[in-house]
Amino acid sequence: MISWLLSNRAALAFSLAAGLVLAIAIVALLVARRRRARGVPIVARDVATRTLAEESLRRSEATSRAFLESASESIVIADATGRIVLLNARTETMFGYARAELLGQPVEVLIPAPLRERHVAHRATYMAAPRLRSMGRGLDLAGLKKDGTEFPVEVSLSYVATDEGTRAIAFITDISERVAFQKAARQADKLAALGTLSAGIAHEINNPIGIITSRVEVMMLEAEEDGLPAEVRKDLEVILRHARRVATITQGLLSFARQSSGTRGPVNLNQVAEEIVQLARKDMSRARVEVTMKLDETMPTIVADANAIGQVLLNLLTNARSAMAGGGEITIETSHLATARAARLTVRDTGSGIPPEILPKIFDPFFTTKSEGTGLGLSISHGIVHDHHGALDVRSEVGKGSTFTLTFPLDTAASA
Ligand SMILES: Nc1ncnc2c1ncn2[C@@H]1O[C@H](COP(=O)(O)OP(=O)(O)OP(=O)(O)O)[C@@H](O)[C@H]1O
Ligand SMILES: [Mg+2]
Repeated sequence: MISWLLSNRAALAFSLAAGLVLAIAIVALLVARRRRARGVPIVARDVATRTLAEESLRRSEATSRAFLESASESIVIADATGRIVLLNARTETMFGYARAELLGQPVEVLIPAPLRERHVAHRATYMAAPRLRSMGRGLDLAGLKKDGTEFPVEVSLSYVATDEGTRAIAFITDISERVAFQKAARQADKLAALGTLSAGIAHEINNPIGIITSRVEVMMLEAEEDGLPAEVRKDLEVILRHARRVATITQGLLSFARQSSGTRGPVNLNQVAEEIVQLARKDMSRARVEVTMKLDETMPTIVADANAIGQVLLNLLTNARSAMAGGGEITIETSHLATARAARLTVRDTGSGIPPEILPKIFDPFFTTKSEGTGLGLSISHGIVHDHHGALDVRSEVGKGSTFTLTFPLDTAASA
């Protein structure tokens, strides 16, 4: 956490310093453009001197522009009314616009609609007293691409006073990758802390619940033999059912805590898929679920714990089946991502889908929408995949279904 804070500070300091250098280049560029537009105000003794001066001016403009264009941040310069007057190439790639589409537009086209009004007010305040600062400190800022997608950004603001008025300069950094990494690190921390706690709880509960279950089983046999009243047998059944549920949760906690202990060897995801589907086939056909497999024949092996990966796939299939109460289709697909050097397995269902408001919670331990669920299936799966340096992602649309994707990097998995 501390290293994050430090790296965030360092990143901010770096971006402010880079901003200063670029601001100087931008001033030079704005001045050079202005002078060129007006004609160079030099009293030229002769044509040769004038050509030299023009050449030097042209070169300084070219240098400033090169600075601007090579910047890894998007740089957007706006006039006092908020119209974009200059932008660099990174702005085009970051926001998906061609330069000509943005020039003359209000800067708010790059901001998601709900934040625009506030931005207009902030812009006016900034222009009244401009200074070098970061924008929206402590707030989650977002950029808006031409295709409508939003992405997290960090913005530093600066300004230049020109003879045409003040120009505001925004240095915009796309922080999607950093945000995703922070989220994954938070999830991993949470799971690690929970793993320790789970191991302790499971250890304490496992033995007593085993004794309770077996004693109740014996009592039920005796109740039958001794002809005890039906109510007593019913009560014993209820006790047994709940004791078994506690035992299931304890087993879940144990495998959650022990997710990294299995031995690893070469594993082909096609083979895991075939074995697990074979295992689940009866269950699936009883639930009127049709399972289709599209296996990539060129799948390379990864170094993994085959049982653990099988457990992940089984969890995904079980979830898919329970999302299709009236039956449906599950498609399991494998693919070798040669360029990315990764092996991928996806499980797609035609089930209920997952509402957007619960989607961020489904990997949390104990989060469940099922009366009989423990809510550990996906968090255990996430832990196993993370342990293999892989990723477990989900896309879902309510009423259409969900797709869970497992991706394992070949290089990291091979060296694990
Ligand atoms: N394929 C899916 N379609 C729709 N919802 C899903 C799907 N997979 C998971 N979910 C949602 O995510 C929640 C958490 O899943 P998870 O596997 O962790 O626990 P669970 O299935 O509820 O319980 P358990 O795995 O212990 O039986 C589920 O309760 C369900 O709401
Ligand atoms: Mg589950």
